[in-house]
Amino acid sequence: MKRFDVAERPSVDYETIRVSPLTPTIGATIEGIDLARPMTDQQFAEVHRALANHLVIFFRDQRMSIEQHKALGRRFGELHVHPVYGMKGHPEVLEIKTDENSKGVAGEVWHTDVSCDAQPPMGSILYMHEVPVNGGGDTLFANMYAAWETLSEPIRTMLDGMRAVHDGDYTYGVRQKQGQGEYPKSSHPIARTHPVTGRKALYVNNGFTTRIEGLRRSESDAILQMLYRHIELDDFKCRFHWAPGSVAFWDNRCTQHLAVWDYFPHRRYGHRVTVAGDTPV
Ligand code: SIN
Repeated sequence: MKRFDVAERPSVDYETIRVSPLTPTIGATIEGIDLARPMTDQQFAEVHRALANHLVIFFRDQRMSIEQHKALGRRFGELHVHPVYGMKGHPEVLEIKTDENSKGVAGEVWHTDVSCDAQPPMGSILYMHEVPVNGGGDTLFANMYAAWETLSEPIRTMLDGMRAVHDGDYTYGVRQKQGQGEYPKSSHPIARTHPVTGRKALYVNNGFTTRIEGLRRSESDAILQMLYRHIELDDFKCRFHWAPGSVAFWDNRCTQHLAVWDYFPHRRYGHRVTVAGDTPV
């Protein structure tokens, strides 16, 4: 079954950073950089290369103010403002907060961030402040190039060129229950081509995608369910265990993620800064 490209395997010393893969298919830990300081052009190029090679990159023991966190995001592009949840005084920051009063957590199902937007975010940078006192609260990430490449050829031929609807109301309408929200809704290709790597990635997700255009409801539901099961295969996943000061930077164009809520009633708290993206093609 394993028919997808894997990135460089052993730890690699770039000029300014060390990159250590977490699994053969996705994820790498980056050492040798202080994210609170402005990146040199060389550091930026190397972090960007590590992200393109590994899809999600992790940093340990960082300390950033909100302004430094936003500056880090801005190094990679304009900041995205979440259509529903912005932090008071910092609309570009999303608080990731769970405690004994939570009825749900952000990102409990496999998804890519805010894919209901016409131009969904390119990447997200989550900085964890507080982890659950008795453990838990990991985040899973999955490689959507591999998900696309491991579909059988007849299925890829059928889906390539088709589009699906991503509806914000499906996620935020149900969770928010405010009743008056107008949430973004967009149509995107089922296989999108990554603007940096040129590779195709599967781009439907259980958080936002509601139907495949041009199919009967029953056909669309069956195919989406099949794809969601496929996305969950262990072959192309990694699991990140957070500590205070950990940072994860994922590329929303070629990954999905899921926040594991296995620590109720304990508290987990972090800030996410999200980098704006372009129209999926
Ligand atoms: C999210 O951005 O979907 C939340 C991820 C997490 O809390 O681990």
